[in-house]
Amino acid sequence: RNLEIERLLQAHEWAAKFYHFLLKNTEHGKAAMEYLRSRGFTDKMIDQFQIGYAPNRWDTLVQFLTKRNFDLAEMERGGLLTQRNDGTGYIDRFRDRVMFPIANRSGRVIAFSGRILGEGQPKYLNSPESKLFSKSRTLYNLHQAKTAIRKQRQIVLFEGFGDVISAWEAGVHNGVATMGTALTESHVAMMRNLADEVIVCYDGDSAGQAAALKSIPLFENVALHVKVAVLRDGLDPDEYIKNFGAERFVDQIIEGAVSTTKFKLIYLKKNHILLEEDGKVAYAREALEVIAQLPSPTEREVYLKELSTEIQIEYETLKQECNVIRQSV
Ligand code: UTP
Ligand code: MN
Ligand code: MN
Ligand code: MN
Ligand code: MN
Repeated sequence: RNLEIERLLQAHEWAAKFYHFLLKNTEHGKAAMEYLRSRGFTDKMIDQFQIGYAPNRWDTLVQFLTKRNFDLAEMERGGLLTQRNDGTGYIDRFRDRVMFPIANRSGRVIAFSGRILGEGQPKYLNSPESKLFSKSRTLYNLHQAKTAIRKQRQIVLFEGFGDVISAWEAGVHNGVATMGTALTESHVAMMRNLADEVIVCYDGDSAGQAAALKSIPLFENVALHVKVAVLRDGLDPDEYIKNFGAERFVDQIIEGAVSTTKFKLIYLKKNHILLEEDGKVAYAREALEVIAQLPSPTEREVYLKELSTEIQIEYETLKQECNVIRQSV
């Protein structure tokens, strides 16, 4: 069993090198290279993250692994190959996709995610869950980020590959990603082992912001301090960096990350039109519910004063209502 895992690790390492080589040095990789260039990926980024390309053929990896005497049934169990429909053998699982190797904490490749060049479904095809790979226990880029994370005692958490890679290029070397899946307790436990603070930097679309909101209690449960980096206009971190530059991303978005309370207030506010009386009252009520839960009187005062300025309601009025809510729970 351990030998099987070792063989699968070997095969993944070979496959990563092979796909990377095909992208960089062959005619097969040309269109994928152009796609990556058009998205602003530099040679440096492609090398650092060992990005590759799986050609549009059925047996590129099958042949490669066969030559190296790997057992194809075993490779299928490890997620590199799939069985032919008629059961007569194996074909490559990943075809005509930009390949992102996914490593474990020690930097060994345990899975791949392949992006389609352009539009189409699925956008990213992932390795299946296997003896090597469990998505709910893996954080993309942890192996490269752990040095910076330990040093700073801080992690920046992203959703996707492009976000981690662009942020790395922007100088953010403590970034990891959940790869789209919901944050799990094992993710959080891994993060807790290395850091005291996390900056959640999810996509600026409504799914990303909702996921950021949901992540907060998981971190609070393990006393990991949380801040939220808020991206507006639906951009994701990768798009933000490419539109506005690295410096602005670091100075405004990362450095400008807000407290969880502030984030909750920003989040609530989006659903209300403050210029209308009803909207203002509804927002005030929801905001007061959030503020009323804060145990510290100082903290409550800080946010009540901000709210007072924001919606032009007397601080004393808000404080009174906040106290009523506190007494009712
Ligand atoms: P997003 O939909 O935000 O994609 O999913 P993205 O990272 O911005 O991708 P680009 O920029 O369009 O290339 C966030 C992450 O969720 C996972 C991937 O890890 C992705 O980076 N995901 C997304 C999948 O695993 N499968 C999918 O089909 C889509
Ligand atoms: Mn997203
Ligand atoms: Mn995204
Ligand atoms: Mn996207
Ligand atoms: Mn993106």
